[in-house]
Amino acid sequence: MDPLEPAPESLSTAPPDLLRYAHEPVMVTEVLEALLPERGGPYWDLTLGAGGHLRRFLDVAPAGTVAVGVDGDPDALVRASHHLRVAGRNVSGDGEVRLIHDDIGALGTSTDVAALLSLGLRPRAVLGDFGLSSPQIEDPSRGFSYRHAGPLDMRMDPTRGEAASTFLEHIGQKALERLIGELGEERYAGRIARTIKESLPILTTEALCATVEKAVGGHRDGKHHPARRTFQALRIAVNDELGRIERALRFAIDVAAPGARIATITFHSGEDRVAKDVFKGAVRDGRASHVVLASRPQKAGKPIDCSDDEADLNPRARSAKLRVIEILDPDLAVTGPKGYRRGPRPPRD
Ligand SMILES: C[S@@+](CC[C@H](N)C(=O)[O-])C[C@H]1O[C@@H](n2cnc3c(N)ncnc32)[C@H](O)[C@@H]1O
Repeated sequence: MDPLEPAPESLSTAPPDLLRYAHEPVMVTEVLEALLPERGGPYWDLTLGAGGHLRRFLDVAPAGTVAVGVDGDPDALVRASHHLRVAGRNVSGDGEVRLIHDDIGALGTSTDVAALLSLGLRPRAVLGDFGLSSPQIEDPSRGFSYRHAGPLDMRMDPTRGEAASTFLEHIGQKALERLIGELGEERYAGRIARTIKESLPILTTEALCATVEKAVGGHRDGKHHPARRTFQALRIAVNDELGRIERALRFAIDVAAPGARIATITFHSGEDRVAKDVFKGAVRDGRASHVVLASRPQKAGKPIDCSDDEADLNPRARSAKLRVIEILDPDLAVTGPKGYRRGPRPPRD
């Protein structure tokens, strides 16, 4: 996919519609403690969003630190570019902030990424803050939310792939039931999948809400809309989010410089399981160690939860979990807790 061209002047003023909703970056204090911005970059933000974490990283990093921001959503890149420019950052193809429009599940084959690596910009700090940003959720035309009437789209990158309405046409009932049950943790997955398949086509968010309500009758789990879990499951499936997270993290581990820190923020148990398994594998293979934060000491390999204070201020942060690893130097002998390789690693193929 094309990189975002070295941002022209016009990008510094994004269309007002794209700036209507702000995104509050989550667990910023913990992320900065984990990623050590004071030692510089390159910093790679795999989920640029509105650029909140990236801006905070550069605010602490020494002058001259280079940051790379990746996002699959063209709107996110325009939004982040605007905010970064307003903050006085140089966003351009050879500036301190370089933006890439790409799917994070395909970074290993991206020519833009290869070009950055060939310039010696191997990451020393990586963040993947997975899921949706607030402006995506609030934009009715994206179809992510049961709260807003709009087309049932749900693609992170609306320029490619299959919208949720088409996805529902193509998936079989059993597979749909499984994904609503697993990705949505929805106990009424069977009834919902059957009613969806009987009600096709479902072209709008309101139509999906009505279909789920029809399937589960008056069922509500108290404070949440009955379609909330179905929307979540469908969004994760339409965007192959778990597969892309896994590929993105494996890629980051492969290209990161020795001593690099890699952090993930996840909002869903499925996403967290993927991050946990990939990080655990890297530790087991002697390629990384778990990082324990001094301010929020946790058992190695356990995630750090969003603090209650932050969740009170920003309810969307409530389910956030942070995991951090550090890439080991393959040429150095490694000693450490159970599971670490002792002695130098054999050279990689
Ligand atoms: C929670 S937001 C990140 C917010 C950001 N940390 C900030 O402070 O503004 C997640 C972002 O990741 C992007 N994203 C999610 N899955 C992606 C994928 N497979 N490829 C590329 N970008 C993806 C979304 O488009 C969204 O902009």
